[in-house]
Amino acid sequence: MIRNQILSVENLSKSFFLHEQKKIIPSSSQINFKAYPGKLIALIGPTGAGKSSVLKCIYRTYQQTSGRIIYKTAAGDSVDLALASDHRVLELRRNEIGFVTQFLHTLPRQKTLDVVAMPLYQQGVSRQQGREQASKLLAELNIPKQLWEVPPATFSGGEKQRVNLARGLIASPRLLLLDEPTASLDAQTTDRVLRLIQRKKDQGTAMLAIFHHADLVKRIADDVVELTLPEKTH
Ligand SMILES: Nc1ncnc2c1ncn2[C@@H]1O[C@H](COP(=O)(O)OP(=O)(O)OP(=O)(O)O)[C@@H](O)[C@H]1O
Ligand SMILES: [Mg+2]
Repeated sequence: MIRNQILSVENLSKSFFLHEQKKIIPSSSQINFKAYPGKLIALIGPTGAGKSSVLKCIYRTYQQTSGRIIYKTAAGDSVDLALASDHRVLELRRNEIGFVTQFLHTLPRQKTLDVVAMPLYQQGVSRQQGREQASKLLAELNIPKQLWEVPPATFSGGEKQRVNLARGLIASPRLLLLDEPTASLDAQTTDRVLRLIQRKKDQGTAMLAIFHHADLVKRIADDVVELTLPEKTH
């Protein structure tokens, strides 16, 4: 069965204008790809090539300079994410599009279980049910139980990364953006994360993930989009 695309990125370019220095910093240039349910696209390329910027444009953290980002909603509407209202974007973030950023940002006193369950609370799920599901994911990702009731501020890099991932996966978004989800993990923990990502793929989640290692791309990606440094393309 050929499934319909959930996201179409067309001629996407992003550059930054630094007002004080009156300089334009090119980031991503002329990016094209489509994402499908149950498939993972790997975004690869050297550091500074604009990989994170592409994810941020899709999530509307950044506004692209040109090009279109067409998202097909669960209700069947096509939305240009660059033109959608803030209200619409927030609604899509709550219900359909997830983003696991490169670094974990949380409120200082929030306990790990609640950090992870937050996307479910925002959808109206009870605290008890949210915490139950968060526990399952944290156990699966091998986060020691004694850390669950502690805020993640003091966690190791790899622990923070897995908390971030658990929070991104818990609400089962239709489209999931992952910025280097295994960057600071050892081989065994990477395997656990890949198994979890594979399960979400099997459940039909469309994914767009940044990876720095070719072997990970080989193991988990269905398609590859390669970005190059702006200097080389201009
Ligand atoms: N908010 C911003 N303001 C100015 N320049 C920015 C901003 N965000 C990104 N850039 C620039 O855009 C370019 C691409 O950055 P980006 O973070 O997208 O790269 P990346 O491919 O994700 O790199 P890495 O592999 O190191 O994470 C860089 O030159 C960066 O300095
Ligand atoms: Mg990046």
